[in-house]
Amino acid sequence: MPEHTIIDDAETAVPEHHLPAWLNEASYWQPAHRPLSAWVEHAPFAFWVVEQTRPRSIVELGTHWGYSYFVFCEAVKRLGLPTRVHALDTWEGEDHAGRYGEEVFEYVAATTAADYADIGSMHRGYFSDRVSDFEDGSIDLLHIDGRHGYEDVREDFELYLPKLSDRAVVLFHDITEHQETFGVWRFWAEVAEQYPSFAFEHEHGLGVLGVGADLPEGMRAFFAAATGQPERVRADYEALGGAIRRYVDLETEATALREESARLRSELETTRAEAERLAADRQGLSNQLDAVHASSSWRLTRPVRWVSSSLRRSS
Ligand SMILES: C[S@@+](CC[C@H](N)C(=O)[O-])C[C@H]1O[C@@H](n2cnc3c(N)ncnc32)[C@H](O)[C@@H]1O
Repeated sequence: MPEHTIIDDAETAVPEHHLPAWLNEASYWQPAHRPLSAWVEHAPFAFWVVEQTRPRSIVELGTHWGYSYFVFCEAVKRLGLPTRVHALDTWEGEDHAGRYGEEVFEYVAATTAADYADIGSMHRGYFSDRVSDFEDGSIDLLHIDGRHGYEDVREDFELYLPKLSDRAVVLFHDITEHQETFGVWRFWAEVAEQYPSFAFEHEHGLGVLGVGADLPEGMRAFFAAATGQPERVRADYEALGGAIRRYVDLETEATALREESARLRSELETTRAEAERLAADRQGLSNQLDAVHASSSWRLTRPVRWVSSSLRRSS
C-alpha cells in the first residue's frame, strides 16, 4: 500500500473556547495514515471522541487496511494517553465484502511497528475466538465494523457487551447503508432506542451509542447538544470529513498520475532505444552498401548492369 506525505496541520489549531460542545481541536486533526477505506470521513469525530473520553482501552472489530485503527492510534499518540488500541480481524476478508491477501496484514503490522509500537495490538482471528482476550468491563470505546448483516452486527454487539466498561461508547459503521445485504441500519434502529445515541449520516453512516451507565461528561454534553441541534452537528462533521475525503481523493489521483507518468517515461525510453537500434542498423546497411559499391567485382560488372538497364528502358 503506497504511503503519502503527512499533512502539516499545525496551522489548523482552533481556540477551544470558540468551539461548540461537539467540536474540539482534535476534530481538525488529519490522519497520518490513509490507506484505502470507506471510513475516511469519520476521522474528525474519532479524534474528537478519543480526546473527550480518554478511553483506557479501544477495541475495533474489523480493521482491514487499518484506516480507522490508525486514526484511533494517532489520537492516542498525539494526546499522550496510556491507552491500548486493539485491532481484531482475520485479515483474510470474508465472502460478502471479498477476500484479500497477506499483504494487508503485513502492511498493518509494519505500520503498527513503525509508528504505534506501544499503542496498537493486532489480534488475528474471528471476533468470537478473540473475545476472551479482554476482561469483562474493560473496554471504554468499541468500534464495530465487521460483517454488515443484521445478525452479524447483533452477534458482534452482544458478544462484546459484557466486556464494556461503565463509561463505554460504541461506534457502529454503515448505519445508513441500505443495500440488500446490509442490516446494520435495522440493528441500529433497535439499540438507538435503548441508549443515548446519535447518528452521523455521511460516509455510510456512523452510529454513536452511549452504552455505559456512567458516561464521561464530554459525552453527555455531546448527546445533549447533538439532540438539540442534530443538523448542525451533522453539517460540521460532514464538512470536516469531506475535506479529508477530497484530500485523499487528490492523493489517489496524484498517485495514479505519477504511475501513468512513470509508465509513459518507460515507454518513451523503450521507443528511444528502438529508434537508436534502427538508426544503427541503417548505418550498418549503408556501410555495407558503400563497401559493395567500392568493391572491384561491382566495378567489373558495371557494363552488364548498363546493358540490362538499357534493355529494360527500350522494351
Ligand atoms: C469493512 S472492513 C473494516 C474496515 C476498516 N475499519 C476501515 O477503516 O477501513 C471489515 C473487516 O472485518 C473483518 N471481519 C468481518 N467479520 C469478521 C469476524 N467475524 N471475525 C474477524 N474478522 C472479521 C474482515 O476480514 C474485514 O477485513
